[in-house]
Amino acid sequence: MQTATIAFDRFNQLHDDACHERIRAARARLGEQAVLLGHHYQRADVYQYADLTGDSLKLSRLASQADAEYIVFCGVHFMAEVADIMSKPHQKAILPDLAAGCSMADMANLAKVERCWRELNEVLDAEEVFTPVTYINSAADLKAFCGEHGGIVCTSSNAATIAEWAFAQRPKILFFPDQHLGRWTGYTMGIPLDEMMVWDPDLELGGLTVEQIHKARLLLWKGHCSVHQMFQPAHILKFRNQHPDGLVIAHPECSFEVCKQSDYVGSTEHIVKTIKEAAPNTRWLVGTELNLVNRLAEEVKPEGKIVHFMSPTVCMCSTMQRIDPQHLAWTLENLAAGKVVNQISVPQHEAGLARLALERMLAVS
Ligand code: 13P
Ligand code: SF4
Repeated sequence: MQTATIAFDRFNQLHDDACHERIRAARARLGEQAVLLGHHYQRADVYQYADLTGDSLKLSRLASQADAEYIVFCGVHFMAEVADIMSKPHQKAILPDLAAGCSMADMANLAKVERCWRELNEVLDAEEVFTPVTYINSAADLKAFCGEHGGIVCTSSNAATIAEWAFAQRPKILFFPDQHLGRWTGYTMGIPLDEMMVWDPDLELGGLTVEQIHKARLLLWKGHCSVHQMFQPAHILKFRNQHPDGLVIAHPECSFEVCKQSDYVGSTEHIVKTIKEAAPNTRWLVGTELNLVNRLAEEVKPEGKIVHFMSPTVCMCSTMQRIDPQHLAWTLENLAAGKVVNQISVPQHEAGLARLALERMLAVS
């Protein structure tokens, strides 16, 4: 007899301890049928169950190499989409809470990017002049747009390498949706700031003049991550005054001024690696999401390293935070009972074009 899908209501009120027991039991029943991937920002009470962890680039590679039938993604929606796009036909990508989105990814959509492309075409031949580059923090249809128009995907750990590839194809880049990662990448490549223009998707011609579009080498979509905009140059200044020997490291989604005033800038994986490999007894100020910083601080404490969070306020990826023990227990119990819940399934045509853009990235980086 077929069993029914277990409703989430029954888990919503469950105490965390009960959830942990049920997660462990369901995990044991699933065995190699499931693999759990966890992004560095995932909350500790869920992160502990991840079989594989990493930043967006590492996780997209791991997702493409996984063999388990169920790829349970403890991250956000675009990450599970990448897992689905890169997976084999027998595999299913699962996101324990469908509301775990990325507010930055939502700042660009296909209608707006297509309008931008049409408007650019009125000024110059966009297809000949611009390589579209989308940050991996974007919906699958935007990756498909890049696949279709000779473009590529990048992550925060390979953005400069990808931009070099993009410039080798065509003289200009249209970069979306994170203006900050785009600007920092351009800056590290030596592109003058006045050759990087912000494209505001809500204004005609992005709010730019025809001359500005001709001059721009890098067009930066007006998008950002609200979590990383909380870090301010004043936080760095205060830390440096108090700890002149301290070191500062920031994620490239932070503002240009924060990146400029940091000693190191890099992806979440780069931040973890840099601090783990640093000399004992060093002191660090870190500008990225709180869950990662707290975990890292604990891990390096035995070596006498002190890790400070850059902001005095709590900056968490509140959407990733939605993947809690309740949702994980509910998901795994259903999977263990043979019921697939919260599958992320990108339509075939879109997935094919998006895969093209992702495979270009994996080949280049
Ligand atoms: P990483 O590429 O460092 O994993 O960053 C992803 C992300 O969403 C940062 O906000
Ligand atoms: Fe998106 Fe920002 Fe969360 Fe990263 S931290 S997943 S960019 S909302």
